[in-house]
Amino acid sequence: MRLILPLPGAEALASEIAAGLDADLGAVETRRFPDGEAYVRLPTALAGRDVVIVCTLVRPDEQFLRLVFAARAARELGATRLTLVAPYLAYMRQDKRFQPGEALTSRHFAHLISREFDALVTVDPHLHRHKALSEIYSIPATALRAAPLLADWIRFNVERPLIIGPDAESEQWVSEVAELAAAPHLVLSKQRHGDRDVEIAISGLDGWRGYQPVLVDDIVSSGRTMIETAEGMIAKGLPKPVCVAVHALFADDAYLRLSERAGLVISTNTISHPSNGISVTPLLVDALVQVE
Ligand code: R5P
Repeated sequence: MRLILPLPGAEALASEIAAGLDADLGAVETRRFPDGEAYVRLPTALAGRDVVIVCTLVRPDEQFLRLVFAARAARELGATRLTLVAPYLAYMRQDKRFQPGEALTSRHFAHLISREFDALVTVDPHLHRHKALSEIYSIPATALRAAPLLADWIRFNVERPLIIGPDAESEQWVSEVAELAAAPHLVLSKQRHGDRDVEIAISGLDGWRGYQPVLVDDIVSSGRTMIETAEGMIAKGLPKPVCVAVHALFADDAYLRLSERAGLVISTNTISHPSNGISVTPLLVDALVQVE
């Protein structure tokens, strides 16, 4: 029987996955030594076990070393197979050297993860310039799509939705969600000037009065993309948008600021957050049954 091990922050999701798979749920004990180094202990018997480590990589630098320590300890203790379930996969956005000398962290991170695990399961990784995880991950990597879940949520909760993507990168999610929700969609254009400085051109909305704008994006990080878009729409006299995201990173006060400008903010549980309202757990369970 499979053994599911959660890293800190993924306990609830791991427990749901274990229940869905009828698998055993183990534990990973971690703490910080006074100097900040990580202590990791796997108290569950691992010899001969097919082990799934669940780890949400929302603050990857804090999480990564203990993830590697847990993976290496699991192998040393006899785990026969190691799968990483990382519902939010970090370090996907630096997929190009935008400035000379920059580290191509999407590729380096993929290399580091591929060294430790036999397989990876994730949800909507930010595939933009990399078209598939197999371009950078050398292990079998499953990229699940949350679009059908987002579409179902929109169909059941929003009347006359107009699905809006804030930038060209969101086209892939927005067009799929719109098709599945049988709703019209349009994609705006964005210029990013810095981590917290984006400019969104709000255009093409004049013919859509009477519709409820629904902003859809894969990631909300600083929140600037959604906040700027929501502000632009309100300034044009449109209703406050419903904001739907897959990965709720929400740095600093981004959630508060977006909530003030949105009709509603809703996200999936790839990252545990108060805005979670759409569960990807059934997708993860099905995928793990497939990779058995
Ligand atoms: C990138 O284009 C992504 O799809 C998101 O639009 C972006 O990561 C959102 O970032 P932020 O919330 O910091 O504007």
